[in-house]
This record gives sequence, C-alpha cells and structure tokens, in this order.
Amino acid sequence: MTLLTTNRLRLEPFTEGHLAGLNEMNSDPEVMRYLSGGRPETLEETRVLIERVMKRWAEVGYSWWALIELETEELVGAGAVQNLRREATLVPDLACPLEMGWRLRRDRWGQGLAVEAARAMGDFAFKDLNAQELLAVCDPANTASANVMKRLGMQEVGIERWYGKDLLTHRIEADGWTAMRQRRPNEGHAL
Ligand SMILES: CC(C)(COP(=O)(O)OP(=O)(O)OC[C@H]1O[C@@H](n2cnc3c(N)ncnc32)[C@H](O)[C@@H]1OP(=O)(O)O)[C@@H](O)C(=O)NCCC(=O)NCCS
Repeated sequence: MTLLTTNRLRLEPFTEGHLAGLNEMNSDPEVMRYLSGGRPETLEETRVLIERVMKRWAEVGYSWWALIELETEELVGAGAVQNLRREATLVPDLACPLEMGWRLRRDRWGQGLAVEAARAMGDFAFKDLNAQELLAVCDPANTASANVMKRLGMQEVGIERWYGKDLLTHRIEADGWTAMRQRRPNEGHAL
C-alpha cells in the first residue's frame, strides 16, 4: 500500500476511515454527472467500493487513493491507477493497460488539485509499477476531465471502447511523462 505526498495533498490508499468523506463526494450529483449519469452513490455502495479497492491494493499493489488536503486534513477527492476494462464488469481485466482516474469534491474544483494528484500517481505508475504507457478515459462531454489529461501532456487518441462505453481516450508513454515532469519538477511530486 503506497502513500504519496504532493505539495498540497496526501494520497492515502482507501480504508474504511474514508467512508464518510468518499460518500459525501460520491453522493453529489454534479460530481457523478459523467460517472453514473448523476445518480448519487449510496453509503452501502461506497462501503462495497472501499472493500473492493482494499482487496485490489492487496492483490496488485495499486488502486484508488483518497486525496487528503494537507492544510485541512479533509478528504477532497479520489484518484486511481488501475487496469482498464474492456466491458462494463466489476472484474478487473489485468490484461488491459493502466489508466489514471480522478475526481474532486465540488468545492475544490478549479485549484489544480486533480493535475497535482495525477502527477504523483503517474510518477508512481511509471517508476514503481514500471508502466510503459498510461491511458486516461472520460465521457466525451466531460471537458474538465479531458483538460486534466491535456495539462498532463497526454495525447488524444480518439474514442475507444472501454467499460462497455465509447470514451474519449488519452495516452502518454514513459518518455513523454519524463519530459513533462522535467518541465514541471515542482508541481506535485511523489516522495
Ligand atoms: C475532472 C475534475 C477532477 C477536474 O477538476 P479541475 O478542478 O477542473 O482540475 P484541476 O484540479 O486540474 O484544476 C484545473 C483548474 O484549476 C485552475 N488552477 C488554479 N490553480 C491551479 C494550479 N496551481 N495548478 C493548475 N491549475 C490550477 C486551472 O486554471 C484549471 O481551471 P480551468 O479549467 O478553468 O482553466 C472535476 O471536474 C471533477 O471532479 N469532476 C467530476 C468527477 C469526474 O467527472 N471525474 C473524471 C471522470 S473521467
């Protein structure tokens, strides 16, 4: 289980202690707009999610982190490195490439926290997991998420089918990531 730290955030692998904070974020229809069509997540669904994520960490050594704001110690978001799935199934497809994902509490949008967390998660994927490439996918209408991908220097590869959906897909290889990180050494770093 790998803890990461950036200038403003601590990335903690999900535990039961994150239940209330995660459910508060995941029950906001605005946060869930492009994830569940706006349907709020129930407390029980968040509990099941945390269990699944804890199992995943134990099995493969990567999954979802809770983003804890250092200044307030509040849970302000979540981010992941995980295997993409070809179909809309809960079973992870370890044959699929790695992707990064992110979400923030609505009152923390517009501060650069997603890109800051993503830089630390990408460092972890390329260095600790030895990834050759990283993908990121979003609903084609989710421009805020696509902008995070662009800010990370990821290249758009178009619409691809993942999780049983047509998703806008971006990609970056290890060399491209290293070059981006050398240009921006101080913006979010994994300790
Ligand atoms: C996707 C999501 C995480 C993006 O959040 P965000 O706040 O726009 O992204 P960042 O944290 O990288 O912040 C970037 C914004 O902060 C601004 N900003 C302020 N300070 C900044 C800083 N120090 N560094 C970088 N950007 C900064 C940027 O200008 C940018 O604003 P702009 O888009 O108006 O130009 C957020 O919209 C969200 O949680 N959506 C709901 C969940 C979701 O859809 N997740 C993605 C699923 S694929």
